[in-house]
Amino acid sequence: MNIQQVDYNGLIPNNVSLGGDMRVKRALEKWHPGYINWWNDMGPEGFQKSLVYLRTAVSVDPKGWAKFDYVRMPEYRWGVLLAPQQEDRKIPFGTHKGEDVWQEVPGEYRAMLRRLVVIQGDTEPASVEQQRHLGKTAPSLYDMRNLFQVNVEEGRHLWAMVYLLQKYFGTDGREEAEALLQRRSGDPDTPRMLGAFNEKTPDWLSFFMFTFFTDRDGKMQLEALAQSGFDPLSRTCRFMLTEEAHHMFVGETGVTRIIQRTCEAMKEAEISDPYEIEKVRKLGVIDLPTIQKKANLHFSLTLDLFGNEISTNAANAFHAGLKGRYREHRLDDDHQLESNTYPVLRLINGKIQNEDTPALSALNMRLRDDYVVDCNNGVSRWNKVIEQIGIPFEIKLPHVAFHRHIGEFSRTNADVDGNILSPAEWTNQRTDFLPSAADKDFIESLMKPQFEVGKFASWIAPPKVGIDNKPGDFEYVKIHDA
Ligand SMILES: [Fe+2]
Ligand SMILES: [Fe+2]
Repeated sequence: MNIQQVDYNGLIPNNVSLGGDMRVKRALEKWHPGYINWWNDMGPEGFQKSLVYLRTAVSVDPKGWAKFDYVRMPEYRWGVLLAPQQEDRKIPFGTHKGEDVWQEVPGEYRAMLRRLVVIQGDTEPASVEQQRHLGKTAPSLYDMRNLFQVNVEEGRHLWAMVYLLQKYFGTDGREEAEALLQRRSGDPDTPRMLGAFNEKTPDWLSFFMFTFFTDRDGKMQLEALAQSGFDPLSRTCRFMLTEEAHHMFVGETGVTRIIQRTCEAMKEAEISDPYEIEKVRKLGVIDLPTIQKKANLHFSLTLDLFGNEISTNAANAFHAGLKGRYREHRLDDDHQLESNTYPVLRLINGKIQNEDTPALSALNMRLRDDYVVDCNNGVSRWNKVIEQIGIPFEIKLPHVAFHRHIGEFSRTNADVDGNILSPAEWTNQRTDFLPSAADKDFIESLMKPQFEVGKFASWIAPPKVGIDNKPGDFEYVKIHDA
């Protein structure tokens, strides 16, 4: 069998020869009904019977890996797909650097590895749960389809992690796979493991910000795990990254189209001051300062996902060869970092300043720095749109100390420029930086469904091109074809 092709004959599509691995096949088939129950309970609400124009992976060849067709979401073929094995691959970093990669879990790192897989796995169903109400207020069928595409692929990412747990971690792997179906985003008793995945995604601007900022954290984590010396994890993450690219496309273009619509409406109405918020809102579009506040919120929540700036867990995972740096293979150093340092932004005597820290302990900080660079690239593309239309406004990422709940800056209140505020100042200024109740109410007032083929809500511009090159009047979701 060609490893690039996916076998769709059994219950679980795969390119890992599941047919010849009865133990894992049975374990996954046993897990399958629980997954479908979870999807029916916690997946997109109200559209489970609609026909959605979705892509499904048919190969892991980066050129032409997907086919598009109408699918009812519960019938989506979730499968186990790994990027092809690279011959003679060596562990690229850490104390085992240069040794052959592991095809089985190294005993001494078993607990650490399982934890990495479980944490990644937990984020995947969480975002589906967070986004489950959004279909009802979709600004177009095009956007609705993109939401559902992201949702089914996050479901597949859960499958990817569950495969690793079932295949490589025995009984405790099976228990973890079960627990991944039990936790619920935002549930006070059984929440998801990470903070940002227990927040609400109440509206479509939040959804686009989430896919821009939080799925991009996913990309960074997957890039770091794709370097892993545990080869099955590396191969799994490499294929997930091809799917993840679409999620960030959805986020980046979604926000771009909102910004574009706002700026165009302002131009037409001859409003040049972006801070004439009430006038702009009367046009049925989202004012730029509110878009900025949403970016502040989602950026800061996502930074918390990188964990403590200085972290022994991160050092241990790197040292062991389990989790590398962003694009480790492109970095020019000894890939062991035993004697290197890295500047970490810290709060020292009430001032925010850099401090040289052992590089191994600073790996979370480093990944976060790479993340911020990646975010800024996207933000500058947003700003080009504003500039081209000629509105004097620039979206800026807030300072990394702003609105933090984890790490160095969780003990302080900083404004978006990194000035330290007293608790009273923070309370007074909070809604200058973050969406107020009134901002939320306004956004919510715009969230009216637009389900007519080829039409878009007032506050978002149509996309430049359709999915799979479909024309503007393509029916991406056949809602009533139940
Ligand atoms: Fe994912
Ligand atoms: Fe994603």
